[in-house]
Amino acid sequence: MDTDPGRGIRPDLWPSVGEYPLYDPFLYYSMTHDVLRNDAFRAALRQVAGGRTVLDIGTGQDLNWALEAARHGARAVHAVEAIERSHAMAAKRLAQAPQRDRIELVHGTSFGLHLPERAEVCVAELVGSIASAEGMLAAVSDAHARLLAPGAVVIPAACRTIAGAVCLRDMFADGLGFSRDALPYLQKVFDLCGRPFDVRLTVSNPDPASVLSSTAAVETLRFDGSQPLDEKTDQRLTIERDGAVDGLLLWIVLDAGDGTRPIDSLHDRTSWTPAYLPLYDTPVEARAGDVLDVTFERRTSDDGVHPDYLVNASLTTSAGTVEGSSVSTHHGPDLGTNALHRHLLIG
Ligand SMILES: C[S@@+](CC[C@H](N)C(=O)[O-])C[C@H]1O[C@@H](n2cnc3c(N)ncnc32)[C@H](O)[C@@H]1O
Repeated sequence: MDTDPGRGIRPDLWPSVGEYPLYDPFLYYSMTHDVLRNDAFRAALRQVAGGRTVLDIGTGQDLNWALEAARHGARAVHAVEAIERSHAMAAKRLAQAPQRDRIELVHGTSFGLHLPERAEVCVAELVGSIASAEGMLAAVSDAHARLLAPGAVVIPAACRTIAGAVCLRDMFADGLGFSRDALPYLQKVFDLCGRPFDVRLTVSNPDPASVLSSTAAVETLRFDGSQPLDEKTDQRLTIERDGAVDGLLLWIVLDAGDGTRPIDSLHDRTSWTPAYLPLYDTPVEARAGDVLDVTFERRTSDDGVHPDYLVNASLTTSAGTVEGSSVSTHHGPDLGTNALHRHLLIG
């Protein structure tokens, strides 16, 4: 599948889709065939599943981690999936699986789940293009409070979101527009949210050399239940080569668990695609040594699960300081708040 997000060869602009209940066979395919991701999760599960009770949050249509946990000797596995159609596909898969007697599959979200016993291991691949975007923090925090035993192991163990300065217009020198394959997903996001709005953007296959500043973590997520859902981080990025800046590229570095190799969604070939947040309507020329001060805020949206992001930035060059900002909400309502979204969505 050449058009698979993260698997082509040229940069493609997509709406961020992972934070909405619109997973379909195409999106599951890209995850179920993501060798790097799956090897890391499998290796982490192999170390901890034996003889334990495992909770798989968001098992998806392929029941990936529930089956894997059972194969590695889990005593009992509880798997929950929010999307009805995905749950039905998973139920069909389960009916054929040799391990079916040890797996209980439930339709619904983890927030409504009740378990007969607290699980000792939790596997939840609810990590977004911005690590927290799919509601992983809220889901894991709720699970620690109600569904997991004290000291339960969570897979993945941790994830950071890294930021660097880029110029999107330079990355798409032939013209900026959504990939054709992305358009049906854009419409589905708008249908789900009830209106068009300045949807979060992702760039598949970005050239890592597009990043022209130093990089820094704007989120460092631990999944031990102790982390506040809302946080603010200040970082200073130093421009490392002359060029224009119009926004931030954000990508994840994920640690599945003890000893597994971290996955980096900018440098590795994986199904996670970096996100782009616009800061400046007109690109600002910067030189090596200039600085971009960034305040990155994660604020839970009114659904109580999925974060909105607010970024303020100051780019200081020899010509002075230019302020920029970005608001990236999970479900709107604002439309056309910046030149990029006006170009993409209004024309
Ligand atoms: C990124 S996919 C991962 C699918 C599968 N676990 C895998 O790793 O291949 C996330 C899945 O979790 C489901 N999901 C998201 N949040 C959930 C929640 N709180 N409870 C149950 N399912 C959830 C989505 O519908 C989707 O199927």
